[in-house]
Amino acid sequence: MTVQDFETAARTRLDPVHADFIAGGAGDEITVRANEEAFRRLRLLPRVLRGSAVRTQEVTVAGSRARTPVLLSPTAFHKLCDEEGELATARAAAAAGAIMIVSMASTVAVEDIAEAARGAGADGAPAPLWFQLYLQPDLEFTEALVRRATDAGCTALVVTVDSPVRGAHERDLRNGFLDLPDGLRCAHMVDPHEGGRVRSIAMSPEISWAHLDWLRGITSLPILLKGVLHPEDARLAVRHGADGLLLSNHGGRQLDTVPATVELLPEIRAAVAGRVPVVLDGGVRRGTDVVKALALGASAVGIGRPVMWALAEGGEKGVRRLLELLREEVDQALALCGACGVQDLTPDLVRAPAWGPP
Ligand code: FNR
Repeated sequence: MTVQDFETAARTRLDPVHADFIAGGAGDEITVRANEEAFRRLRLLPRVLRGSAVRTQEVTVAGSRARTPVLLSPTAFHKLCDEEGELATARAAAAAGAIMIVSMASTVAVEDIAEAARGAGADGAPAPLWFQLYLQPDLEFTEALVRRATDAGCTALVVTVDSPVRGAHERDLRNGFLDLPDGLRCAHMVDPHEGGRVRSIAMSPEISWAHLDWLRGITSLPILLKGVLHPEDARLAVRHGADGLLLSNHGGRQLDTVPATVELLPEIRAAVAGRVPVVLDGGVRRGTDVVKALALGASAVGIGRPVMWALAEGGEKGVRRLLELLREEVDQALALCGACGVQDLTPDLVRAPAWGPP
């Protein structure tokens, strides 16, 4: 019935160590909780007598058209949840016409994910796939990966910039979950030049705006930056040619105690002043959360953990049901807000408690 039900069901199926890896965050997990709590604190203020029997959820973000404003944020290691891993996720996303962002840390290669998505797209339209990248200090390796994603048909790159070092996941440390189980590997980190050795993903504090400029120079795909939180960085991102932002705190998995993403949305929107789209993720669990974020100016929203829970609960079918459920909830909320589509969602429909200093 609900996204929460998927988590409850998934926990009975998953190895508790893997369930902790998915649910957990950095430090005291203050930001993990803040993301969901912030949505709960916002109130919707609906309009009446102006609805329509036909409602659409279609959006176009950074040139990619989707049948739903809910996209699949990049999450690592789907094979921890289902033996088909990202193939199952991709088929479900394609069937829903949802954008899937393939994680650089996926357990299936982007070429195979793209093929699964192509086979499952409804109405013959290819479902959009984006590729998430941690820029590697080894630029040659990074460039090869960008080529692979491009050749596989990905229509945008999402560069995660909130990870100069790995977040401190204390649950994983306590559980001793430091590596993938035998038989699973990060498909994009297999180095063909080194006899199939699997590299680890480097998280480097030396990655800078200069690297983004370099990336801008080697690809014509739209580039979205994931993990920009400071409005000054949002302005810099636009100046450096970013085509969009994915406003994200990594689901509370990087710096603990940063604000909930939805709290930052108005400020980030103001900083980019409509020049690029802003997608938001973190704590989206209900159709009303989707509607609140869109009303506050997000072009789309991402979900992370819910996809993993649904995958663990029911594989491809689970993720299909999850996306269908959110579609139904969004439709219900749109109707009750007097909106015919996402274009009718405006900031006056949201009442926020006074955040910040009085
Ligand atoms: C993530 N996230 C993530 N982000 C990223 O850029 N690359 C990655 O490989 C991963 N991997 C990953 C694994 C798991 C298990 C989780 C839970 C999250 C972060 C993800 O893209 C997204 O920002 C958050 O998950 C959004 O918050 P919710 O929806 O999980 O609350």
